[in-house]
Amino acid sequence: MLGFTLLLLAGAQSVFAKCKCTPTDPCWPSLSAWSALNTSVDGKLIHTQPIAEPCYPGADYSNQLCQYISDEWNNSSFIELNPAGYCYPRVETCPPVNITAGNHTQCTLGTAPVYTINATEAEDVAAGIKFAQDNNVRLVIKNTGHDIVGRSQGYGALMVWIKYIQSGVTFQETYAPSNGCQSNWTGSAFTVGGGYIWDDLYTTAASHDRIVVGGDDPTVGVIGGYLQGGGHSPSGHYFGLATDQVLELTVVLASGETVTANACQNTDLFTALRGGGGGTYGVVISATIKAHPAHQFIGHRLYVIPQTANLSTLLNISANIVSKYSILSDAGFSGYAEILPSSELSLSIPAGAIYMHSFGVMIPSSNASATIQHAKSVLNSEILADLLPYNGSDFLIESTWYNFPSFESYYDTIAGGSSAEPTGVSDLLLSSRMFDKPSLLNNADNLEGMLHTIFSKYDGGPLNATDIVIYLCLIGGGQVLHPTPYTSVNPAWRKTYLLTEIIVGWPEDASAQTVNHTINDLTFRKSNAMKALTPGMGSYVNEADGYDPSWKEDFFGPNYDWLLSVKRKYDPDDVFYCWRCVGSESWAEVTGGRGYGPLCQTS
Ligand SMILES: Cc1cc2nc3c(=O)[nH]c(=O)nc-3n(C[C@H](O)[C@H](O)[C@H](O)COP(=O)(O)OP(=O)(O)OC[C@H]3O[C@@H](n4cnc5c(N)ncnc54)[C@H](O)[C@@H]3O)c2cc1C
Ligand SMILES: *[C@@H]1O[C@H](CO)[C@@H](O)[C@H](O)[C@H]1NC(C)=O
Ligand SMILES: *[C@@H]1O[C@H](CO)[C@@H](O)[C@H](O)[C@H]1NC(C)=O
Ligand SMILES: *[C@@H]1O[C@H](CO)[C@@H](O)[C@H](O)[C@H]1NC(C)=O
Ligand SMILES: *[C@@H]1O[C@H](CO)[C@@H](O)[C@H](O)[C@H]1NC(C)=O
Ligand SMILES: *[C@@H]1O[C@H](CO)[C@@H](O)[C@H](O)[C@H]1NC(C)=O
Ligand SMILES: *[C@@H]1O[C@H](CO)[C@@H](O)[C@H](O)[C@H]1NC(C)=O
Ligand SMILES: *[C@@H]1O[C@H](CO)[C@@H](O)[C@H](O)[C@H]1NC(C)=O
Ligand SMILES: *[C@@H]1O[C@H](CO)[C@@H](O)[C@H](O)[C@H]1NC(C)=O
Ligand SMILES: *[C@@H]1O[C@H](CO)[C@@H](O)[C@H](O)[C@H]1NC(C)=O
Ligand SMILES: *[C@@H]1O[C@H](CO)[C@@H](O)[C@H](O)[C@H]1NC(C)=O
Ligand SMILES: *[C@@H]1O[C@H](CO)[C@@H](O)[C@H](O)[C@H]1NC(C)=O
Ligand SMILES: *[C@@H]1O[C@H](CO)[C@@H](O)[C@H](O)[C@H]1NC(C)=O
Repeated sequence: MLGFTLLLLAGAQSVFAKCKCTPTDPCWPSLSAWSALNTSVDGKLIHTQPIAEPCYPGADYSNQLCQYISDEWNNSSFIELNPAGYCYPRVETCPPVNITAGNHTQCTLGTAPVYTINATEAEDVAAGIKFAQDNNVRLVIKNTGHDIVGRSQGYGALMVWIKYIQSGVTFQETYAPSNGCQSNWTGSAFTVGGGYIWDDLYTTAASHDRIVVGGDDPTVGVIGGYLQGGGHSPSGHYFGLATDQVLELTVVLASGETVTANACQNTDLFTALRGGGGGTYGVVISATIKAHPAHQFIGHRLYVIPQTANLSTLLNISANIVSKYSILSDAGFSGYAEILPSSELSLSIPAGAIYMHSFGVMIPSSNASATIQHAKSVLNSEILADLLPYNGSDFLIESTWYNFPSFESYYDTIAGGSSAEPTGVSDLLLSSRMFDKPSLLNNADNLEGMLHTIFSKYDGGPLNATDIVIYLCLIGGGQVLHPTPYTSVNPAWRKTYLLTEIIVGWPEDASAQTVNHTINDLTFRKSNAMKALTPGMGSYVNEADGYDPSWKEDFFGPNYDWLLSVKRKYDPDDVFYCWRCVGSESWAEVTGGRGYGPLCQTS
């Protein structure tokens, strides 16, 4: 209740002509209108409460619950079971602080929607869409709330939450398309009926001896933003992007109608939803995706740990390794690498950072030993031969090979994001860039220069690895390079070997000016250092910097205008909106000083 009261006080009527109604506006639906909506969805309407409300004075105060919430705050499985739960709230408005210990922060919903339909079937979704349309209320679609750009958040909104649409995961030994549609796919398939996460699907796929193309982190949702925005994966190199695997979708449209989208029906919608991003064309409630035969993998893990060496020397060595990535990829390697603060490993070393990678190679059933031998000799000659002279002196080099009988053992041992990502944090920003072969091969000096820019401070101070992580996702190459029909991912994906992600953070108590400088430094200086090496490439829409002024071009490439035409066709009245999604330029949040506010038309 507290959150709601504060929202009522906070509102300021917008200067724009046409805005969606918020709780402080006279046009906000009455309690009886909400109650009627609740009846029409069989009581599944939730008046959303901030998760940590029990930490604050009021009827819900509970020291014991607050303790539990504080302990679970970094647990993304806990966060995603809560309607107000977000991995990366755009503004943190209800942290689990200890009020009795003297903190007197206020607790409000912030960017979380006011009401949530805990949908379990298509009719609930349609009822939410209709209500939002009829009452001019902002609508938000949420699955897990993992989105890094904040696209499943929305101040003053009604949320359609698809988490509990769970009509099962079904396996087809041989895929048979609906309605007699022709398909080129003669292999197996899974139909995923709702808000399942990759952890669910990995388990099911393993039990059928199949590999599916899914998230590096098991807590990401299957059918939502991940799949619709592209989806990179530890197995994508061998089978293509996750969105390339989609055979068929069931979609609730803005009109309320539920349709099938595949290569025969609603093909424009099918294409837009295969790579054009979630949240804006319709609500996907089921997806059928390819399932591939099981394979063995080998793995390689490398740690480069500076002992006496400084950060500059680590970046020199890292740039040299990265310049060989397309060679590794062409030899079958794929996986994830990082340059991360040594403090995360509780190491205290002068350089302040280490390089590490966990790569794998899928082994074909015929020619296994030749493939293994080839892969090992490429990695030994291209990477290890250059490193071993340093070992034991300036650096500690740890190189380990693994044999895995299956994808699952590869994933569980070294490929999955088993180290839980921090969640519930709003004091970080991410920017990504795709790298093609010419930007890597024989380009070590320029890559080193880029890393120097990234690890230098905007105020001209010395190189410093504090509060910066670089993820080097070697998830392209191989099948990712091959365009498939009916996809709308940024075509730059078809040249991508490496996706580089920079994550910068700032202290919780940083001043507004420091935060602003840090954000601008990432959006412009650091991101431009990546762009300078990768002309014509793009950023990954699902792992991107929303402040990027070239977001249309960087996220969608030349497909933007076509995607917008599909958006206009299927959602002519803009009932769906998310920040930086296709069509979002027609709307803007009037944020005032809070960082969020009413959603209004821009023209
Ligand atoms: C810990 C972590 C690990 C990650 N690992 C990877 C990775 O390995 N590979 C990768 O490619 N990405 C990864 N990502 C990024 C991920 O792809 C995005 O966060 C993605 O948006 C998550 O989709 P979601 O549906 O789970 O999240 P949500 O936040 O619920 O939704 C994301 C977007 O999709 C829309 N949406 C959700 N469900 C639907 C639906 N059913 N129909 C229509 N629109 C919908 C929402 O409106 C929103 O715009 C990771 C993110 C996190 C936080
Ligand atoms: C919707 O109805 C259910 C069941 O009657 C009730 O428990 C719930 O509190 C109602 N939701 C709202 C927002 O009033
Ligand atoms: C809050 O602080 C008080 C007093 O220091 C303590 O007794 C209580 O256990 C704390 N509660 C939580 C949830 O940490
Ligand atoms: C949660 O993560 C943050 C940031 O990584 C960390 O500072 C904090 O200690 C973590 N909290 C818990 C309870 O693990
Ligand atoms: C995270 O939360 C989920 C869901 O509440 C719970 O099942 C799991 O045990 C938690 N994990 C940890 C490490 O606390
Ligand atoms: C809350 O109060 C405790 C004890 O006074 C303090 O350690 C902590 O940093 C405070 N947290 C915030 C967010 O102000
Ligand atoms: C949502 O609905 C599901 C299924 O009916 C239920 O298990 C779950 O507890 C509900 N969640 C909330 C937050 O009400
Ligand atoms: C099937 O293959 C043909 C020929 O390559 C191609 O034209 C067609 O688009 C493919 N269909 C699908 C659904 O991918
Ligand atoms: C880092 O070490 C290298 C090699 O020892 C040296 O040439 C360089 O000057 C050092 N850089 C800094 C900033 O100390
Ligand atoms: C076997 O693998 C090697 C090394 O990858 C490759 O050069 C060769 O062409 C492969 N042979 C066959 C028949 O696939
Ligand atoms: C790294 O240092 C070596 C010698 O110190 C130098 O020749 C080379 O150009 C530097 N950069 C890279 C990327 O190797
Ligand atoms: C890096 O920056 C942090 C915090 O800004 C500071 O504490 C640390 O001393 C710096 N390290 C170096 C090597 O300059
Ligand atoms: C942040 O920086 C931008 C660009 O320099 C500026 O336009 C904006 O007003 C600043 N915002 C705040 C809150 O300081």
